[in-house]
Amino acid sequence: MLNVDNISLYYGAAQALRGVSIKAEPGKVTCVLGRNGVGKTSLLRAMVGQYPIASGTITFDGADITGLRPYERARRGIGFVPQGREIFPLLTVEENLKTGFGPLKRHDRNIPDDVFSLFPVLQSMLGRRGGDLSGGQQQQLAIGRALVMRPKTAAARRADRRHPAVDHQGHRPRHLLPAQPSATSPSCWSSNISISPASSATSSR
Ligand SMILES: Nc1ncnc2c1ncn2[C@@H]1O[C@H](COP(=O)(O)OP(=O)(O)OP(=O)(O)O)[C@@H](O)[C@H]1O
Ligand SMILES: [Mg+2]
Repeated sequence: MLNVDNISLYYGAAQALRGVSIKAEPGKVTCVLGRNGVGKTSLLRAMVGQYPIASGTITFDGADITGLRPYERARRGIGFVPQGREIFPLLTVEENLKTGFGPLKRHDRNIPDDVFSLFPVLQSMLGRRGGDLSGGQQQQLAIGRALVMRPKTAAARRADRRHPAVDHQGHRPRHLLPAQPSATSPSCWSSNISISPASSATSSR
């Protein structure tokens, strides 16, 4: 379980997160919603260690990871799909996927078949440069790259069009409402995704 407890985050003098808490439990998709600029990305950055928090604690599987570097959190199984995708445009799809090998031990460095089951287009475009993919395909590549490291938890920005924060009448879908909506509660989602460690290798292609 990923447990974010009462964290605050500042950009210089500007406070972006104030006393934010969220739990992401195994086997569940955890969503937090909010308007633009409320702090969704900041919360994700704090969770994966991309930006230091000023107060509060973050624990993962019972261990305090508040002070860990991003690569140390990745090694513990926290995946991340950046808001801007941040794939490498000049690397091929296969090379981009292999950048997810970083936290893995040498004998685990293969691309699980599950990635291609989820995103068949990636398999058919293994040799294409990342920058030549469509926007949606690049998004699939960014998610696939996070899954390559077999994360216990993957943190990602929501897909706005497919999972709108508000319906056509401006109401938030009830099943996505946070328990206690608040102007200071940021909106992001983190989903617990697991790929079987027994998944077979395809990286030699
Ligand atoms: N690097 C930064 N330096 C200073 N302020 C920042 C920085 N990044 C974000 N902010 C500010 O922090 C607040 C939260 O930003 P954040 O990117 O977390 O919002 P968000 O909820 O992800 O928004 P969006 O829905 O537009 O992606 C905003 O007011 C933003 O202007
Ligand atoms: Mg954002």
